[in-house]
Amino acid sequence: MKHLLSTADLAREDAIMILDTAEDMAEVSSREVKKLPTLRGRTVVNLFFEDSTRTRISFEVAAKRLSADVINFAAKGSSVSKGESLKDTAQTLAAMGIDGVVVRHAASGAAHTLAHAGWIDAHVVNAGDGTHEHPTQALLDAFTIRRRIHGAASRGRDLDGVRVTIVGDVLHSRVARSDLWLLRTLGATVRFVAPATLLPAAVDEWPAEVGYDLDAAIEEAPDVVMMLRIQSERMHDAFFPGEREYAREWGLDDARLSRLPKTTMVMHPGPMNRGLEISSAAADDPRSTILEQVANGVSVRMSVLYHLLAGPEGGAE
Ligand code: CP
Repeated sequence: MKHLLSTADLAREDAIMILDTAEDMAEVSSREVKKLPTLRGRTVVNLFFEDSTRTRISFEVAAKRLSADVINFAAKGSSVSKGESLKDTAQTLAAMGIDGVVVRHAASGAAHTLAHAGWIDAHVVNAGDGTHEHPTQALLDAFTIRRRIHGAASRGRDLDGVRVTIVGDVLHSRVARSDLWLLRTLGATVRFVAPATLLPAAVDEWPAEVGYDLDAAIEEAPDVVMMLRIQSERMHDAFFPGEREYAREWGLDDARLSRLPKTTMVMHPGPMNRGLEISSAAADDPRSTILEQVANGVSVRMSVLYHLLAGPEGGAE
């Protein structure tokens, strides 16, 4: 594997291998000295053209735990503000000698372009491109679900028969897309629940059920309810009448939380709009995996960097 750009590219065996290696990485992270020498001498650039807390920091922690050198690049404060292009920025960093690039960009397809345009020769990890994909978020979500269901017996397991309901702003969500492809590959079923205005036109062609009624979806007692963030920064039209109506119709509020089975996981990729798509009680409930997702993100990203960059020419296989 040279790059990780989309979960649609991952075969079931590849995905399970990444999740199993993440189990090993989680074990490393539980030690007093949380460090492996695996990527000593390799350099990873975090190339972030969009804001991030979880993804950027967990890639930095992951790379450092594998002993890589890490360069953090944020478009704000860089020569991007003087008009420098993605190509020139990437080639400038590549000229300093880099082995891996973790890229987040507002344009869908930016990570694919960086990997395949011939501008640089580094391994590329997509850390979120526009509304297209966020593959490491999907991997950490799958890892979190697998661990909650199978616990210490997770290795080698897929998510066969797990029922996942994804709620909210599917239209603008790269997480929803990456989760859909990966969860289906691992044998789970996916249902989207959203107002019609926040579903993409092509949703009928996706391997997912679609519904518009969150209360009806909760009655079916799914194994996972994943709330998506309302992405106001990508909304240039009115997609729903107002925040109060959105919270009433599609938010996981306290009343809906009380009707969820005790075993249903409550997930959210973060950052959350508390009181809009999810209530504080739901976010902080024992069924919530939100902070587990963050912790698991480090293990999963260590695994991805290991599989891409370890070995004499990168590519641990
Ligand atoms: N889930 C996620 O991508 O969060 P950040 O935007 O904080 O990285």
